[in-house]
Amino acid sequence: MTDTPITIELPKWYDLHAHFRQDEMIAPLIKGHIAMGCAGILAMPNTKPPVGKIFKSDPGNYTSIEHYSSVLRSDGGDTLKEIIVPLYLTTEMTPALITRGAEMGMLKCAKYYPPHGTTGAELGAPLETYVENGVFAAMEGAGVVLNIHGEEHALPAEQYFDRTTNAEELFYRERLPRIVDQFPNLKIVGEHLTTKIATDFISAAPDHIVATVTPQHLLYTIGHLLQGFKYHLYCLPLIKFEEDREALRAAVTHPGNDKFFAGTDSAPHTTKATECGCAAGCYTGAIAPQLYAQSFELAGVDLSDENEQEIFKNFLCFNGPDFYGLDIPTETFTLQKFPQEIEPLKIGKNTIVPLPLGMQSDTNEPCTIPWRIV
Ligand code: NCD
Ligand code: ZN
Repeated sequence: MTDTPITIELPKWYDLHAHFRQDEMIAPLIKGHIAMGCAGILAMPNTKPPVGKIFKSDPGNYTSIEHYSSVLRSDGGDTLKEIIVPLYLTTEMTPALITRGAEMGMLKCAKYYPPHGTTGAELGAPLETYVENGVFAAMEGAGVVLNIHGEEHALPAEQYFDRTTNAEELFYRERLPRIVDQFPNLKIVGEHLTTKIATDFISAAPDHIVATVTPQHLLYTIGHLLQGFKYHLYCLPLIKFEEDREALRAAVTHPGNDKFFAGTDSAPHTTKATECGCAAGCYTGAIAPQLYAQSFELAGVDLSDENEQEIFKNFLCFNGPDFYGLDIPTETFTLQKFPQEIEPLKIGKNTIVPLPLGMQSDTNEPCTIPWRIV
């Protein structure tokens, strides 16, 4: 007789950091999120042009939150309970527009991109811009959440990634503490944490300062990227060292964790390796809860134990919506410990390689992950 596989019924969850791009990409990507039990999404604003204004009628040659939200709804997101689109902060944003957007209920959060720091970050401005021009003060006053891509920008290569320091560590060690002191009530999400220093900072910070963690940063280390140069694992902030992964794993699997939550940073790229370099971003749409479950097991959580399942639920289903004030769905989905085969995602002429498949040396071999959704 074979044992029944471990089966966990979970409330539908919110992916509070993901990329859905635009045009024909949106519908299949949203479909993937719905297939992995998502009740809602936070759709990042680094489109082309970025979502740099709130209302269609606001000034500037940007996409608006108003427009992008309605496109996401009509391209398959209408069955989701919640679509949150953060504003992409640019030099053109003003305190008055922030206050008005929040009062009208169209602005919940805004994203800081370090200039040129990642895919689609060309129009980001240095963090100090928003300290000086009153935008952070307006956000703090209106209760608008600041989503932070926490890396120091424009560093020389030696400081960008070195044995003793890197762009994320510098940001969380030197820059963010000052922001927290200057704007003590500003709600902050440190997005896609990768280092022990950032993790320790968030753990020690007040309750309104929280963080998302991706599946890849819980599963892998820089060695996995470098051994065979598995460029599908190239995302920003860069995956770091074992000590960092341990700190992230310890934070998300701590029984009292109420600050760290799921935000996949799923970022579809149709061409990863280019003529000169590599596009940053890993696609984990359709399989993220499975990868998170795998990472929790690797971190030592016994997912067959109902008490330990609660720790997983806090991370995947409860902490994020609690922070954003979203309802916990009554609808559920079910994870089961049973191997699932991963296929590339085809969109028109383009192919997107999900991360675990991209980690294989021979992509013609079947790729399986240990959990599936039933
Ligand atoms: C993201 C993308 O491709 O949009 N890439 C990534 O490496 N994470 C952008 C981002 O969130 O940094
Ligand atoms: Zn992202």
